[in-house]
Amino acid sequence: MSTANLDPTAHASSLTNHNPSNYSTNASFVYSSAYTAPVLDILEAQAGEKIIDLGCGTGELTRLIYEKVTAQAAGGGRGEVIGVDSSSEMLDKASSYKDYPIPYIRADIQDLPTFVSRYPQYKGHFDAVFTNATLHWCKDPKGVIELVGWLLRPGGRMAFEFGGFGNCVGIRAGLHQALKKRGIDPVPLDPWYFPTVGQYEAVLRSSSPTNPLTPQSLHLVPRPTPLPTSLRGWLDTFARSTFLSSFDDRQAGEILDDVVEICKVDNYWSEDIPGNGNEDGMNVKGKGEPGPGKSSASGSGQGKEKEKKEGWEVMYVRLRGSAIKPE
Ligand SMILES: C[S@@+](CC[C@H](N)C(=O)[O-])C[C@H]1O[C@@H](n2cnc3c(N)ncnc32)[C@H](O)[C@@H]1O
Repeated sequence: MSTANLDPTAHASSLTNHNPSNYSTNASFVYSSAYTAPVLDILEAQAGEKIIDLGCGTGELTRLIYEKVTAQAAGGGRGEVIGVDSSSEMLDKASSYKDYPIPYIRADIQDLPTFVSRYPQYKGHFDAVFTNATLHWCKDPKGVIELVGWLLRPGGRMAFEFGGFGNCVGIRAGLHQALKKRGIDPVPLDPWYFPTVGQYEAVLRSSSPTNPLTPQSLHLVPRPTPLPTSLRGWLDTFARSTFLSSFDDRQAGEILDDVVEICKVDNYWSEDIPGNGNEDGMNVKGKGEPGPGKSSASGSGQGKEKEKKEGWEVMYVRLRGSAIKPE
């Protein structure tokens, strides 16, 4: 793995610090096949292609793409995949899969000048840029899209999915409310960029003054998402080290307790609460995905007891699409 240093002053407020172990426990749905099939279908990776995965995380999708592009190509050439992420912990996990000789680069994908100075060989090198579940962490979307335009060859494509307008509705408001209650302005702490279709279309078209990307398709897609653990697990994974990174554990714990309480009415369901989900309602699992957590009605150790169905669910809204760099 390349371990080029990140400039800690550049875009520091929006760099995430995901913990790979929390991430795989509380958020494995992010890279689950049911949720990533649509954007992988848009990418349509072909044998022999060169593809870069921006915000590759622990590399689950990078490895899938690697398998496609390194399959024997018709002309005999082998493809190439590179993963980029700002988190050394995520990249350490990604690089631990020794059967996949994928180069990983540690970089801030919002910072074109630093990327260009470190990796000049990648100018116009790639047939495709892929990115999943990352761009909503990038509060400088124009910086990202300039990098995309620089990486792609003429005629190359970008396939993307990330949180769009309305993503995680309720939870973000809960975090704002819990902070305002304490006299803290949440706006500068909020790490998320959830654009509308129109806003992101404008960003895509701003990638270059001379040869900007042309959006091909762009949709907001609501996706109710059962959590494998709980809302608290989700918040520990996605908000504690980002939104709440400036608080100590006691303060952050109190804020997160508040957020869970605020969100419970919308995000928790149980067969015991009419109108908040039941077997025929919210307890719908998508295409074999793990559903919300289940617990025994009368505590553990009573395996034969009737199981009580309850869980946490978050309304994700994805912005999914593609763009082409004109010839
Ligand atoms: C939710 S994970 C998604 C990982 C992977 N794409 C997937 O679908 O499984 C988001 C990743 O984006 C990375 N990330 C966030 N902001 C970034 C930035 N500015 N530059 C590079 N990586 C970034 C995080 O470190 C994290 O690994």
